[in-house]
Amino acid sequence: MPRTEISNALLAEHLDTDDDWIRTRTGIAARRRATPDVSMTDLACAAAAGALRSAGRTTVDALVLATSTPDRPCPAAAPEVAHRIGQGGIPAFDVSAVCSGFIYATATAAGLIAAGIADSVLVTAAETYSRIVDPSDRSTAVLFGDGAGALVLRRGTAGEPGSLLAFDLGSDGAARDFIHVPGAREQPEGDRWFTMAGRKVYLRALQQITSSALRVMEDCAWSPETVGAFVAHQANARIIDAVANRLRVPSDAAVCEIARVGNTAAASIPLALADAVDGGRLKPGARTVLTAFGGGLTWGSAALTWPSVTPVRTEI
Ligand code: UT7
Repeated sequence: MPRTEISNALLAEHLDTDDDWIRTRTGIAARRRATPDVSMTDLACAAAAGALRSAGRTTVDALVLATSTPDRPCPAAAPEVAHRIGQGGIPAFDVSAVCSGFIYATATAAGLIAAGIADSVLVTAAETYSRIVDPSDRSTAVLFGDGAGALVLRRGTAGEPGSLLAFDLGSDGAARDFIHVPGAREQPEGDRWFTMAGRKVYLRALQQITSSALRVMEDCAWSPETVGAFVAHQANARIIDAVANRLRVPSDAAVCEIARVGNTAAASIPLALADAVDGGRLKPGARTVLTAFGGGLTWGSAALTWPSVTPVRTEI
């Protein structure tokens, strides 16, 4: 995580908003912001190196990086991350699925392993939304934060804790404008800020992540009351509560860690997982459902049993 915390009160000093509106509508109290000298790639390197330490490994076979806030359009950041953490030479590429990026990257990594291309993959998600959000737009500036998370996925044996049991992925490009940053051709001049049709996205998120999460639970034949952890993309505490209610998973299974980090897009699920482990809410063996929704539109879910993991935290 970046070190600098930006409270709601600080944002309210220059935006027409207040702490009560932000907390009540989103559950967010503060978010982190990268200082100008810290890039998305720096955050990704810190998280990726931490995941290697957490996994007790010195090498991996591939690296997949989920981001929608690259430091540059070309080349991808993943090869640089691999090089900087001492893994130069391995296959490394970026995945762009906005807030669903971590689920898409994890599915891609699982596919590389299943296809026999790699035995271990470093899945990294890193975002710097502070670089693309208009600081004068209260409807988006209060929502997003910067951060990164990573994990090592490796070939295992069937039934082993940590086994990925089901995936569900989907998209709807007809709604591409709901979450949007114009490119040079779409908008040759002027600032190219992030925009979001918040209410439309809210309603689609409720529908899509409920049905997507349900599909992976059905694939695993898990009844709702047996789910130990429901970890949704941390965009809004109200969405997390509403989807958990619709799915009828136990109320203490819903992981909501948005308060001090805000919406960190692709990084939100690995960050929430680390917080849930450290807070004792996510225990080895728990039936775990991950689900996300974001620009594209894209959505995706994964089901796994939670392994024994000790997160490594870094602040830069
Ligand atoms: O991460 C990718 C996926 N993203 C999501 O899933 C986000 C989904 N959307 C949401 O979480 C919610 O729609 C928001 C948190 C973005 C907005 O909450 P809302 O309850 O849907 O509010 P709204 O957009 O309907 O706006 C309600 C009012 C409006 O004023 P009027 O038109 O009723 O007078 C807004 O102008 O709240 C106003 N408003 C604000 N007021 C104070 C919007 N932003 C703010 C603000 N402070 N920061």
